[in-house]
Amino acid sequence: MSAAPGYGLESVVAASTKLSRVDGQAGRLVIGGYELEDLAPQAAFEEVSYLLLHGSLPDSSDLASFKRALAGRRHLTSATISLLGEAARSGVSVIDALLIAAPTLRLGRTEDPGDDALTAIAAFPAIVGSYWRLKTGHEPVAVREDLSHAAHFLYQVFGREPGPRQTRALETYLNTVCDHGLNASTFTARVIISTHSDVISAVTGAIGALKGPLHGGAPGPALEMVFEIEKAERAEAIIRAKLASGERLMGFGHRVYKVRDPRADVLAAAADALYEDEQERQLYMLAKYVEQTALRLLEEAKPGRRLQTNVEFYTALLLHGLGLPVELFTPTFAAGRVAGWTAHALEQLREGRLIRPDANYVGGLGLKFEPADQR
Ligand code: ACO
Repeated sequence: MSAAPGYGLESVVAASTKLSRVDGQAGRLVIGGYELEDLAPQAAFEEVSYLLLHGSLPDSSDLASFKRALAGRRHLTSATISLLGEAARSGVSVIDALLIAAPTLRLGRTEDPGDDALTAIAAFPAIVGSYWRLKTGHEPVAVREDLSHAAHFLYQVFGREPGPRQTRALETYLNTVCDHGLNASTFTARVIISTHSDVISAVTGAIGALKGPLHGGAPGPALEMVFEIEKAERAEAIIRAKLASGERLMGFGHRVYKVRDPRADVLAAAADALYEDEQERQLYMLAKYVEQTALRLLEEAKPGRRLQTNVEFYTALLLHGLGLPVELFTPTFAAGRVAGWTAHALEQLREGRLIRPDANYVGGLGLKFEPADQR
């Protein structure tokens, strides 16, 4: 099949996977056989990671040893910490710091696909949290092995133990974004490992793909619209004006999900549980109102397009509710998606072939080489 320019491999099947199934027509996401709505709000992130890496949920004893295996791999080498310090001095973004630090996870270890996968999943919170603290003028906090993965992420960022409500909210978020079919970063990871390169290289390449604004790199704007609207009574006029000027409403519409984005529903429920005190609740209620108004006006402006709320809308609200600044949104996404990246890399290693598509050559033919001074 010859691809049209800019076709972007849409609808091309490039792998078989048991990891996740994205059904855009039905608005369903299945992770390792479980509906997202069933799994994400209940499971620990360690359980979901185990499911992706091993193909089934762990029993209590397997879960306990998997948790120990992850917790024991949280520590960063002094070389990684000093590289993060150097990056902080030059003020690079958190996602770039993660991109720079990820390859150092191979230091002091022997390459091994399974161990690389666990190390990458385990170490991301320490990299992101340590770097954020260094960048904002704080010392990184020591790694703790007694906290759950999600609690440890928040501990590494804020330097204090989160409450159960915050931990549950982050856990649900990490579970919700852990895998999503053959998205660009996951495909990148599979391409890299398909050359029989290593899992750390696959994860590093995937971070590079994720940071682009067409993938995970532009998560703030949905929240900005809610802040701009400020009061429910301003919602209709502001949204109407945006649509009239041809602006797209951030957090709405999806290439694949045409009925609903199941991740938005799961994250909306998680945000509902997180935003508890009265002042926080006001922002949550405003966001809900903005969402309803936007859906109504989108249907009016684009009838039949079935533009629904997407994952970005409630991601922004949930992560903001956890106190995470916008700069940490994409790295937090990476901390969840790394479970999928590593599981895909291992699946590709086990079952895949070298990924090597064709390109349609559209350049010149028959040219003859001339020395530079005769061109
Ligand atoms: N606001 C207003 N109009 C929209 C929106 C939106 N959010 N989304 C789509 N439309 C309109 C388009 O203008 C187009 O109208 P037209 O045919 O009259 O020109 C029609 O709906 C179809 O749009 P497409 O661009 O063909 O839809 P596509 O599937 O390519 O785009 C996308 C999906 C990029 C997500 C789009 O809906 C969008 O830009 N949304 C806003 C940005 C956003 O929320 N991004 C995060 C997505 S979540 C994720 O990918 C992780």
